[in-house]
Amino acid sequence: MAVNMKGKDLISIHDLSREEVDQILETSQILKMKQKLGEQYHPLKGKTLGMIFQKSSTRTRVSFEVGMFQLGGHALFLSANDLQLNRGETIADTARNLSRYLDGIMIRTFDHQDVVDLAEYSSVPVINGLTDLLHPCQVLSDLFTIKEKKQNLEGLKLIYIGDGNNMAHSLMFGGAKMGMHVVICSPSGFEPDPEITRLSRVDASKSGATISIEDDPVEAVKTADVIYTDVWASMGMEDEHEERLRSFASYQLNSELLEKSKEDVIVMHCLPAHRGEEITDEVIDGPHSIVFDQAENRLHVQKAIMALTM
Ligand code: CP
Ligand code: NVA
Repeated sequence: MAVNMKGKDLISIHDLSREEVDQILETSQILKMKQKLGEQYHPLKGKTLGMIFQKSSTRTRVSFEVGMFQLGGHALFLSANDLQLNRGETIADTARNLSRYLDGIMIRTFDHQDVVDLAEYSSVPVINGLTDLLHPCQVLSDLFTIKEKKQNLEGLKLIYIGDGNNMAHSLMFGGAKMGMHVVICSPSGFEPDPEITRLSRVDASKSGATISIEDDPVEAVKTADVIYTDVWASMGMEDEHEERLRSFASYQLNSELLEKSKEDVIVMHCLPAHRGEEITDEVIDGPHSIVFDQAENRLHVQKAIMALTM
């Protein structure tokens, strides 16, 4: 039976029920099919999404804006530099004001608490378009993409190699919710947040998933169904870039590492990639890579999220 998600915020996959995740994935499939068939579908006619960006974006901005257009609505790009938010207006007042004009707010920012606060004071749904802690829309799209390629999610082994960052955290939450075996392989000192690890293990205990934190990528990739990587220095960490290149040097996803994995393994990256750092050209452009399918599916999955919540 359909779950009513109208008015619901999308801040973390941890907050969603298994039924809600399933519903997002099923709706994404329907919307993708409609778009491929050229069918017009305008459930958000007359509605407006505000998109607040405090960090750069290619995929998130374009896929939300195009998605809103395809659903019959309108999307408004709000650069934080131009909002009174950057001149000291509070998140709470911003939320109260924007709620009077908009039907939904998407926000990409640094501090995760800002998204939580925005949702608390907003009367319209708030969608997390990435924080320093989480990137739920990306991982919901990734779950959809994995399901397209592998038919199901339950029991699959996903190895994430690299920084214990927002992507690692959302993959742990997503995998835990869907019964996957998630292994995070990070160098010492760059492991995921302990509280996210604890919460994802709580979810895992209900779904049959497992969450492990390891440090040897060579051992981990041998039995992987999915190998995932992300940049070593996320947005806001530019100052640490040089130092991180040294810390992560043996965590590069290259042909030598990929050869140790299974023949049908898929390689994923949320993009943007720093080619030659966390992943080589050979791997990202190679036959196992599905990175541009991932990028495309942001459109279909976010349309599902908006159609269900707004
Ligand atoms: N993957 C992703 O969120 O890309 P952008 O930073 O380009 O939005
Ligand atoms: N971890 C990366 C993801 C970009 C989509 C960052 O936060 O910059």
